[in-house]
Amino acid sequence: MRFAMVVGLPAPILLALALLALGPTGAKAQDADAGQRVFNQCRACHVIAATGRNGVGPNLFGVWGRAAGTVEGFRYSTAMRERGAAGLVWNEENLRAYITDPKAVLPAGSMSYPGLRNEQMRNDLIAYIQRASTAN
Ligand code: HEC
Repeated sequence: MRFAMVVGLPAPILLALALLALGPTGAKAQDADAGQRVFNQCRACHVIAATGRNGVGPNLFGVWGRAAGTVEGFRYSTAMRERGAAGLVWNEENLRAYITDPKAVLPAGSMSYPGLRNEQMRNDLIAYIQRASTAN
């Protein structure tokens, strides 16, 4: 029966490998903790905190689901205020587009950030922003 045991081994190993591939390391997974590190690219200009202040960019606390260009006391570009008034809301889709290439969404906007091209980093960052937008 030795032979049968050896033949039987690969199945659980394959299963473990398959689970690993599908697990949180998969390319589509969103990891908010990793996203917090990606947010370091934004910290020069943004805080995301209930008691935080506006910096070069507006405080991003509560940004999830908020109309664009509406943080009290922040001087947005005219382009941002107009798009917000026209109905631009920071849902996942719009946030993703803006983070990927700010100038593609708002050519006349004032955010001097070149855009985040790495999809995994974007997924993680978006998960973090969603989490930190309501509590941190
Ligand atoms: C060099 C400074 C700078 C960096 C870096 C930066 N931003 Fe901004 N951000 C701004 C400015 C300025 C605005 C306002 C833009 C406008 O009015 O057109 C803005 C606006 C925004 C808005 C719209 C907020 C609102 O209230 O409508 C979001 C969302 C945003 N930034 C997310 C990010 C994220 C996420 C990062 C990091 C990946 C980032 N920004 C990096 C300066 C920056």
